[in-house]
Amino acid sequence: MIHLEKPLALAADHGGFELKEAVKAHLDELGLAYQDFGTLDGASCDYPDMALPACNAVVNGQCQLALLFCGTGVGISMAANKVRGIRACCCSDVFSAEYTRRHNDANALCMGGRVVGAGLACSLVDAFLNAEFEGDRHIRRVAKLKAIEDEQAAL
Ligand code: RB5
Repeated sequence: MIHLEKPLALAADHGGFELKEAVKAHLDELGLAYQDFGTLDGASCDYPDMALPACNAVVNGQCQLALLFCGTGVGISMAANKVRGIRACCCSDVFSAEYTRRHNDANALCMGGRVVGAGLACSLVDAFLNAEFEGDRHIRRVAKLKAIEDEQAAL
């Protein structure tokens, strides 16, 4: 398991609320710290509003990685990827959850509460947290992602 120096940042809209709660129980069992940025009651809310504070906590160094949830995992991944410095991946298979850390240095894993069950979500989280960025040729590629961000920000 990756050594977490800082808590994980968790966030969900209503479509991902139950899955977030299931993943929290899993993190509790593993003894991993997290900060829950909501939603805390499952009431209808908008995924960009939920993604932003959790992603800001990752890019400002308060949290290490984000685990994000909505109905499909897609909307919240789109919102997360608008935040400079976030590399979010929506996953529903373990291979992608592992390799998005190893190759893309992803710092946010997004999952759909209407797509994956709690057991699979916990396996996705384990794969994501156990994997480490491989560096090497992937450094160049991830740097090119950052270059796109910088170029867009300068427009
Ligand atoms: C909310 O109904 C749903 O649209 C949202 O959770 C998510 O799936 C969007 O991508």
